[in-house]
Amino acid sequence: AHLQKLMSDKKCPAERKEEMENVLMQLDNFGQQELAEHFVKYNVKSPVTGNDLSPPISFNLMFQTSIGPGGNMPGYLRPETAQGIFLNFKRLLEFNQGKLPFAAAQIGNSFRNEISPRSGLIRVREFTMAEIEHFVDPKEKVHPKFENVADLEIMLYSSKAQTSGQSASKMRLGDAVQQGVINNSVLGYFIGRIYLFLLKVGVSADKLRFRQHMDNEMAHYACDCWDAETKTSYGWIEIVGCADRSCYDLSCHARATKVPLVAEKPLKEPKTVNVVQFEANKGAIGKAYKKDAKLLLEFLSICDECYITDMEELLSESGEFSVETEGKTFKVTKDMVGVKRFQKTLHVEEIVPNVIEPSFGIGRIMYSVLEHTFHVREGDEQRTYFSFPATVAPYKCSVLPLSQNAEFMPFVRELSEALTKNGVSHKVDDSSGSIGRRYARTDEIGVAFGITIDFDTVNKTPHTATLRDRDSMRQIRAEVSELPIIVRDLANGSMTWGDMEVRYPLFEGQETGKKDTAEE
Ligand code: GLY
Repeated sequence: AHLQKLMSDKKCPAERKEEMENVLMQLDNFGQQELAEHFVKYNVKSPVTGNDLSPPISFNLMFQTSIGPGGNMPGYLRPETAQGIFLNFKRLLEFNQGKLPFAAAQIGNSFRNEISPRSGLIRVREFTMAEIEHFVDPKEKVHPKFENVADLEIMLYSSKAQTSGQSASKMRLGDAVQQGVINNSVLGYFIGRIYLFLLKVGVSADKLRFRQHMDNEMAHYACDCWDAETKTSYGWIEIVGCADRSCYDLSCHARATKVPLVAEKPLKEPKTVNVVQFEANKGAIGKAYKKDAKLLLEFLSICDECYITDMEELLSESGEFSVETEGKTFKVTKDMVGVKRFQKTLHVEEIVPNVIEPSFGIGRIMYSVLEHTFHVREGDEQRTYFSFPATVAPYKCSVLPLSQNAEFMPFVRELSEALTKNGVSHKVDDSSGSIGRRYARTDEIGVAFGITIDFDTVNKTPHTATLRDRDSMRQIRAEVSELPIIVRDLANGSMTWGDMEVRYPLFEGQETGKKDTAEE
């Protein structure tokens, strides 16, 4: 905010403005020291009091709490849903018959210690997120369905473009993967699917870009990350992250729990390998360390060849080495361990899967959809509407009798019951306003379609009614018995309004009673 204020000064030289723009672009990339230096360089003060700022400090983004009746067990509220999936890795792998790739998805609440929650749903301390963890063989980071998304032209803002001051540019997804802008086709596939999903729920393609994280900005667990960002009245905001978490999480959990989290891959040819292991003398270790002996035995059973060879050298040079595990230190002497070497024929190889993680901020997506679908009817500022795609509109359809004439009511009831039977959420508005006013009221809350019962519905057979499309305000006429199915198909996305205009006659004007005025 401070730099933006300096830049908006007309007397600010162009060169200095450019320099500050560059600083703003890289803000997330700066470490603690660099930020502190920028505070001093640009003489940043508190916007409220005008006081000097303290240097930036690190703090925990997780909320700490106390578990149990005595409250003496520390716990943390989860900052992402992902870890539940990693902890269930072995079971999930089993569900997939032990084969890679596979994925799991989860939606739930997460909590983060935001320093200044604000901007409605954009920055909150408790939020809903939906995450997919896609586990893949690191040697086969190729997605078999990438071709389905390769031709999408997507606005990409690579980390190189950001650090060199270039702007985002549109690229064919296939070219971006081929040229290494996006590291691999699994990451590329999910970027494509995220893009399609966001358009489907109502995000505007011209206000959507994918921005790659810069090196210092990347979370500790990621080796590459692209954010889907939308342009809103708050500026560009991150709404979905798509990270390559490599083997970070599975390795950390395996190390901490001493349970290997690996998948087995059959080898084309059996392979003979050399195995090096510690051979523990349980009696000597038990005698020396009593109830703690188990900790040392566990540690010795998981050591790798490199470590064992180093310790073997220490044993022969000085007769002992020391081990630190679970906060305890153990002295290991020659009588406690030996080293066993043998050959083993392997038919499978063990691999630690890599993980590609699309992570959706539900509130932020909803906020973007609300901004991007909000419109004003041309020439009439009073008439606003939300152009929610039918698949996500809370109400799919309204049922409107042209007037309060009692003859319309049996048709209103019949349609409402049939819509309910077909699982179509709808709203009956049989209040006394003109049909135009009632259309405007349903448009305002984004109801996708409107069925109107008029005098032809009552007087002619077969009984027909009109169906109106909110965005184009065009209408077709179809039989009352068919309309619930038509709206159901439009609402679940299996048919489009265009399909309906081909099948049914267009309807030009609503038949009105004397008091009822036409919509336009
Ligand atoms: N799991 C990704 C995130 O928390 O942002």
